[in-house]
Amino acid sequence: MQKTIPEPDIYRPVSHSRTTLTELMIPSYANFGGKIHGGILLSLMDKVAYACAAKHAGNYCVTVSVDGVNFLQPVEVGELVSLMASVNYVGKTSLLVGIKVIAENVKSGFVKHTNTSYFTMVAKGEDDAPTKVPGLTLETPEDVRRFMEALQRKEIKARSEQEFKAVKTQLELQQNLSTLLGQRCQLAFEL
Ligand SMILES: CC(C)(COP(=O)(O)OP(=O)(O)OC[C@H]1O[C@@H](n2cnc3c(N)ncnc32)[C@H](O)[C@@H]1OP(=O)(O)O)[C@@H](O)C(=O)NCCC(=O)NCCS
Repeated sequence: MQKTIPEPDIYRPVSHSRTTLTELMIPSYANFGGKIHGGILLSLMDKVAYACAAKHAGNYCVTVSVDGVNFLQPVEVGELVSLMASVNYVGKTSLLVGIKVIAENVKSGFVKHTNTSYFTMVAKGEDDAPTKVPGLTLETPEDVRRFMEALQRKEIKARSEQEFKAVKTQLELQQNLSTLLGQRCQLAFEL
């Protein structure tokens, strides 16, 4: 009988896949208020998350989940936006990519931090099924902090998803009518 030899675990350092994407904010990216569309920034974040994840995985990756997207400050036409991505955590087939977005006014040199978000990506193999990703070599105390933070974030997310599911399935409308008091809504029918 032929013995199967277990594949050795491959590890890749965080620096191997660290990626920065810089893009000039042109007028066609603006909304009616003259600021950059949130969707443009989301698309750039997805792009850099993909580049970073695929480089670490050595495989095609898909976006599964996006956390922490809060646009803290508007981005203006003419600003240079840089998106800095690194792998913060790896599971078996998934990777968490942390992305810091900054926008620079090229005239004044003023740099503002617009947001930090977390993209969970899953590596896919030839058969289109999730495939194992290399382990992560943590090179600095900052890498260790991010990995630990990701572990805690994952735990909190799993717990809150359970709670959210329970709220959705158990929500009794009549019993919770009082929670609408003081809210900016009105009932157009009798409950
Ligand atoms: C991502 C996808 C392959 C997961 O498939 P699945 O059958 O749930 O596979 P698994 O249960 O084995 O999960 C694979 C990994 O994804 C993780 N995962 C699945 N759903 C997740 C979620 N909502 N949030 C975070 N991680 C998630 C699992 O924890 C697992 O990670 P691990 O291997 O590191 O432990 C599948 O949902 C998919 O193809 N989604 C569409 C992705 C896509 O097309 N994205 C583009 C945007 S439209």
